[in-house]
Amino acid sequence: MRTWIDEISKNEGKKVELFGWVGSRRDHGKLIFIDLRDRTGVAQIVFFPKNKEVYESASRLRGEWVIRISGIVQRRPKGMENPNIVSGDFEIPADELQILAEAKTPPIAVDTNGTEIGEDLRMKYRYIDLRRERMKQNLIMRHRAIQFIRNFLSQRRFIEIETPILGKSTPEGARDYLVPARLHPGTFYALPQSPQQYKQLLMVAGIERYFQIARCFRDEDTRGDRQPEFTQLDVEMSFVSQEEILQLVEELFTSLVETVYPQKHFTFKPFVRLSYREVIEKYGTDKPDLRRDKNNPDELAFAFVVDFPMFEWKEKERRWDATHHPFTRPQQLGEESVDELRARLRDDTRNVLAHQYDFVCNGYEVGGGSIRTHEPDLLADVFKVMGHTQGGVEEKFGHLLEAFSYGVPPHGGIAPGIDRILMILQNEPNIREVIAFPKTGDGRDLLMAAPAAVDKKQLNELGVQLKQSKKPGLKQSKKN
Ligand code: AMO
Repeated sequence: MRTWIDEISKNEGKKVELFGWVGSRRDHGKLIFIDLRDRTGVAQIVFFPKNKEVYESASRLRGEWVIRISGIVQRRPKGMENPNIVSGDFEIPADELQILAEAKTPPIAVDTNGTEIGEDLRMKYRYIDLRRERMKQNLIMRHRAIQFIRNFLSQRRFIEIETPILGKSTPEGARDYLVPARLHPGTFYALPQSPQQYKQLLMVAGIERYFQIARCFRDEDTRGDRQPEFTQLDVEMSFVSQEEILQLVEELFTSLVETVYPQKHFTFKPFVRLSYREVIEKYGTDKPDLRRDKNNPDELAFAFVVDFPMFEWKEKERRWDATHHPFTRPQQLGEESVDELRARLRDDTRNVLAHQYDFVCNGYEVGGGSIRTHEPDLLADVFKVMGHTQGGVEEKFGHLLEAFSYGVPPHGGIAPGIDRILMILQNEPNIREVIAFPKTGDGRDLLMAAPAAVDKKQLNELGVQLKQSKKPGLKQSKKN
């Protein structure tokens, strides 16, 4: 039976069977030493000449070959311990060796932290790149964080529900990725920029507390903290106030950090809340870096920015647009009635504030959300302010307005960006380092060579014809 390398220290004097990759081989006089690596660590294996057959196979071993060995776990001679590796007090003299796969010399080193290697090579050989300790840790810690989140929310009566990937466009301010629908020529699905409308429909459905580790797709220029597809912790709740949502997020991230990253500390506890106006005046940005010491990799300055303006003026399009998204609820003033609010939307558009909040950390926007408008008339007015016609609203959002006419609970939610949060927690400079198979700066998957041209036959089936000027071809890669 297989023993993992991090279990070696519990098996002194016992025979173990280990599987993994050959890290390095050192020949010392007659002895051959190899570092054997599995997901959990590195172990020292020794081959003695007296075991002739095994010794001869061992002398063929090269870096990254995949092997199985067995042997009895022994304590290393005094002074030969290696405190840097998990099995460092022990070694295993091999009495069996099986070569499971030979390997060509890898095109990139795996025993460094990888920052010295060009990104194109790391992406093309991502399956080798991920063997390095730093990348492996990023994936393991991402898993732990997500597992913590799932447990935390499940204990608070949230249920995790998957929503469609093939759906209808939802406005989050980016371009949609479109998928032609073969069965309905000339029509398209849109990949979700977020599950926004579905999660609101789940509230109408009476789910009350929903979450999803949700994949989102936005066709926009890639940056260090932006990928065309990324992951949100998508949350929605019924019968909830803005304050209750912020409390939940604060509790979740405080306990996540305390449990999974105990070495980190918070600049503010409780997290500070600042108004949009205040942060713009004081810091000139709505995602200020509020750390006391920016050189300290373990400091986390979580904050909420609240009271955003409901609308922003789009000079190019000469119209008002929702600062967050149109489903965000405008704030009522004091005793103001909904009818009075509707009048103010029209007459004093610029000064209407929204029940919207951003979650920021160390200079990044790591989440955003809002209380939603659940009154169909008020929502229709918001669309009107944004320049939609009655017919346009019907066509784009009629399903939501109709759903809201069948008993909608007041609701709200938030969506922290998992990739950005993990990037910060893992002290990485960009989100590609915490995503197993990310896209390059110009949106390509160099490993699978995507996007790629497709057969004419496929295009015909989809009823799609390419313009002459759009012949398949990839632009020169641009560095990011
Ligand atoms: P928003 O558009 O603010 O809100 O997105 C929420 C969070 O998702 C992350 N994020 C991204 N991460 C990586 N790459 C991207 N291209 C990218 N775009 C966004 C950010 C951001 O704060 N439906 C609403 C949420 C809601 O109202 O509940 C939404 O998607 O961390």
